[in-house]
Amino acid sequence: MSETQHYIQENKQKFLDELFDLLRIPSISADPTYEKEVINCAETVAKHLKDAGADQVEVCPTQGYPIVYGEKIINPELPTVLVYGHYDVQPADPLELWDNDPFDPIIKKTELHPDGAIFARGSADDKGQFFMHVKAFEAMMKTNSLPCNVKFIIEGEEEVGSVSLGSWIEENKEKLANDVILISDTHIYSTEQPTVTTGLRGLSYVEVEVEGPNRDLHSGLYGGAVPNPIHVLSRMVSQLIDEKGRITIDGFYDNVEVVSDEERAEMNKLKDDPEGFKKSIGLKGVEGEEGYTTLERTSIRPTLDANGIWGGYIGEGAKTVIPSKAYAKISMRLVPYQTPEEITEKFTRYFEKIAPDNVKVTVKPHHGGMPYVLPSTSEEFLAAKQAMEKAFGKEVLPYRSGGSIPITSLFEKVLGSKSVLMGFGLDSDAIHSPNEHYGVFNYFKGIESIPYFFEYYTELKTK
Ligand code: BES
Ligand code: MN
Ligand code: MN
Repeated sequence: MSETQHYIQENKQKFLDELFDLLRIPSISADPTYEKEVINCAETVAKHLKDAGADQVEVCPTQGYPIVYGEKIINPELPTVLVYGHYDVQPADPLELWDNDPFDPIIKKTELHPDGAIFARGSADDKGQFFMHVKAFEAMMKTNSLPCNVKFIIEGEEEVGSVSLGSWIEENKEKLANDVILISDTHIYSTEQPTVTTGLRGLSYVEVEVEGPNRDLHSGLYGGAVPNPIHVLSRMVSQLIDEKGRITIDGFYDNVEVVSDEERAEMNKLKDDPEGFKKSIGLKGVEGEEGYTTLERTSIRPTLDANGIWGGYIGEGAKTVIPSKAYAKISMRLVPYQTPEEITEKFTRYFEKIAPDNVKVTVKPHHGGMPYVLPSTSEEFLAAKQAMEKAFGKEVLPYRSGGSIPITSLFEKVLGSKSVLMGFGLDSDAIHSPNEHYGVFNYFKGIESIPYFFEYYTELKTK
């Protein structure tokens, strides 16, 4: 075993304790009540980077939450790996569905995690994952084995759309110059079948409002003679997907990437486990676009989902009323070469088109993001594959994920470098949900894999 790997094995308890301290900080970026805690978290991350051996550590102010920067330049001639992650987390509610305090981490064994998993908000998304990089860096520094240069940017607004990061990277292009970006903020297919993520979907997010009568009406006096906005909105939403699972918005599929048969065959090498999939989410059956597997439906195909729908009376007991307004929030996951601007516009046009004349419809766009793909033939992918194969002792396959990390396409545009998505979570980690957890095994496999990535990537670039 190399000295670096030895250091990791020797310091497992310390690495867990330090992560626990970070998980105790409720750095919820969406809720202004937690402002002090989010900033405290940024400062704590900066301290960890310094302690691990990083230079030029800075808590960089932005219009929103700060970005933590740090670097170690050992030789400007050598390649530079830029590590990206986020220290902010999703809100923890509904709190009553947690089995422990979301900000008081505990380790519990589960069926999928015989070595135990860390239960806390942010354990998998993304504190437990970016912290693997800080610890792997520490291991390389302490054993004098860092093979190339490294830079860190850990932001605090990922869960609210990375609002400040875009302009910040534009303003700091030179400082951030790098050869490759390394991100652990995704998951592997399974512990038996480790993967490197080669794609992420984009996102277009809208909120719609349907307005009927100018005030709430008595459902006895007016019922039967006026458009009910809840009925109208439900009809419109259900009209957005047809019986074949296709999205009906005009031109929605115009720019969708046609994935080759070879690539589809490659991705379907990942053994689909329909029974396990259904069981894990308590479903009797799945559904989706005709002609595609579950794996394809959740990765290479675009989708549309209502995330919330409300209006009228939802309090205790019965109130006989026809509401004046009804609302819905709708997300669309995009694939290459769709863009959020294009899709938001097509959605708006179509939604206005299918609205009956007797109601008023408004569409409000929210944040969006571009899809991202890393070819499985690239050297960036190969270095990650080799690194994980060394750590897991198993073949590693490419895996296109359905989630979104919009900043990856911006990194490519502004900094000109590819992002390697070497995440170690599982899809069952319940990120964004109650009882989020991250496997202890996964945490340490990540810390073990990262130094190998540095080594193999440097070898590939300098040979
Ligand atoms: N880490 C996730 C994204 C993710 C998780 C991608 C697992 C692939 C696999 C990230 O923090 C996230 O939650 N992204 C948001 C998008 C963002 C614009 C709020 C998402 O995917 O909903
Ligand atoms: Mn994340
Ligand atoms: Mn997230």
